[in-house]
Amino acid sequence: MSEKSLKQQAAEAALEYVTDGMKLGLGTGSTAVFFIQALGEKVANGLNVICVPTSIASHKLAKKLKIPLTTLDETSKLDLVVDGADELDLELNLIKGGGAALLREKIVAAASDHMVVIADDSKLVDPLGAFPLPVEVIPFGAAATVELMHAAIKNAGSKGAVALRLLPNGKPLITDGGHYIYDCALGSISNPKQLALNLNVIPGVVEHGLFIGLAQVAILATKDGIRKIEL
Ligand code: A5P
Repeated sequence: MSEKSLKQQAAEAALEYVTDGMKLGLGTGSTAVFFIQALGEKVANGLNVICVPTSIASHKLAKKLKIPLTTLDETSKLDLVVDGADELDLELNLIKGGGAALLREKIVAAASDHMVVIADDSKLVDPLGAFPLPVEVIPFGAAATVELMHAAIKNAGSKGAVALRLLPNGKPLITDGGHYIYDCALGSISNPKQLALNLNVIPGVVEHGLFIGLAQVAILATKDGIRKIEL
């Protein structure tokens, strides 16, 4: 079974958590696209939901599918966000941000009562860290911020290269919020909570891709069917 069809299975299985009248967060990435498409079909068949997308790309797709949209300014509390992840562990700590949408993803997750993660089972790891950790950084003084990030990483017991994410044309990727992404190739993260805290106190760091204590459910598609992890 292809990775794509596993992602689709996980995404469609998440519909069981959606009920009429819900306020939903819509994630970003290739797995979230399958969820938004499946939700669009339900909406076309009469499901009543209102949604906040976590990126410009997800907003465009949801709009095209005529999914009713709102913003966190109009609707500050959501029932559920369904989103992908780059990595997750059994405690449902996540690495996100491979698609550069981590800031809006985290704001929406924090505004949601529940978070359901959808992924193929290759994303389940122990420990986190083979996937480079994305950190969103203010362009002003970025080199100084990176120095502080190295110290924060060392203090949390990890180490590795920190690289500015570039576009294929060699220019820095700029996020939906107007910031840079630095990818931290740490290999393994022995203390995700400490690393998250250390990065959060650096002034030039807007947010990082460690999602700790936000997800309650993961729906993982395996070649043998759906595996759920529920906290
Ligand atoms: C977007 O910034 C990310 O957090 C995505 O949710 C994550 O990269 C998962 O993407 P895929 O579903 O494409 O693997």
